[in-house]
Amino acid sequence: MIVPVENEIELKNVTKAYGSLMAVKDVSFAVRRGMVFGLLGPNGAGKTTLVNMLTTLLKPTSGSAFVGGHDVVRAAARVRSLIGVVPQENNLDRYLTARENLILHAKMHGLPPSTYHPRIDELLSLMGLTERQKDFPNKFSVGMQRRLVVARALVHDPKILFLDEPTTGLDPQAKRMIWDYFLSLKGKRTIFLTTHNMEEADFLCDQITIIDHGSPVASGTSSQLKEMAESSWFYEIEVDGRSDEYLRAFKRLPFIESASLEDGTIRVCLKKEGSLGRLVEQIDLRDLRRINSRKPSLEDVFLKLTGRRLRQ
Ligand SMILES: Nc1ncnc2c1ncn2[C@@H]1O[C@H](COP(=O)(O)OP(=O)(O)OP(=O)(O)O)[C@@H](O)[C@H]1O
Ligand SMILES: [Mg+2]
Repeated sequence: MIVPVENEIELKNVTKAYGSLMAVKDVSFAVRRGMVFGLLGPNGAGKTTLVNMLTTLLKPTSGSAFVGGHDVVRAAARVRSLIGVVPQENNLDRYLTARENLILHAKMHGLPPSTYHPRIDELLSLMGLTERQKDFPNKFSVGMQRRLVVARALVHDPKILFLDEPTTGLDPQAKRMIWDYFLSLKGKRTIFLTTHNMEEADFLCDQITIIDHGSPVASGTSSQLKEMAESSWFYEIEVDGRSDEYLRAFKRLPFIESASLEDGTIRVCLKKEGSLGRLVEQIDLRDLRRINSRKPSLEDVFLKLTGRRLRQ
């Protein structure tokens, strides 16, 4: 069966069970052509399992999925010809040099040398790997291997890209460069991305689905999702020392919805708007360095919906 290709990716009641564990539970959604779609969720949420089903590496236990209009089970070879994949693990061939890894991939997709050599030159240069193209991947740092895996996914200029945590292990500069490249593909290619990096989801994605324990808990644009948390009140508090002590004390207060410590800053969410004064009363003013209100982040949305943090 061929579905209309307005939706480049479509899942209908997809479930995957590993024995008694339901890794993906009855998931249905669609990704329109040209969009960057983000699947955001904590460790073990089922992101890689979903990607593996869409990229034909795993069969769903039930339900159906279509990529480029083709059924991922019945037309797996057709689906594979349309997609580029950055898997979660850097699965490079360690017996081939960086360039040979890219050539092998180009040949598997039937590209002639006159097409793939210039394309590979361009991608090696883009990823900052030109000088290292004759080295074997096991001589590469993790970030360099990751950049080579991203280059490999792009060699055959696929219509649809699946990126499973594409920027894990990259330094901020490489991350930014790859984000900018993906942004330049917006409208021209369809991108399905998994991440637990809120900044990445925020920056790149037109549409985000938050997934937890195998089920979607919310979907929308980044701003629509953040609106869900807008009825809560968020503050950042910096104190001189004793942050752990304050955090423990705050957590015991009845009007606190959540409190956490990140990079020396205490982040609190209040249940009611008027409780800030009562919170400040708990702080010895000699210890107080800074107090700010802040806009909700995708992390806050996740916390509000699930009662847990994404990064746990
Ligand atoms: N081959 C497998 N056999 C059994 N259980 C599995 C297998 N692969 C994954 N799981 C389980 O399925 C659930 C979802 O795992 P998955 O790898 O899809 O999560 P994820 O969202 O990609 O997590 P992460 O952010 O850590 O990559 C987890 O509970 C995991 O232990
Ligand atoms: Mg994963």
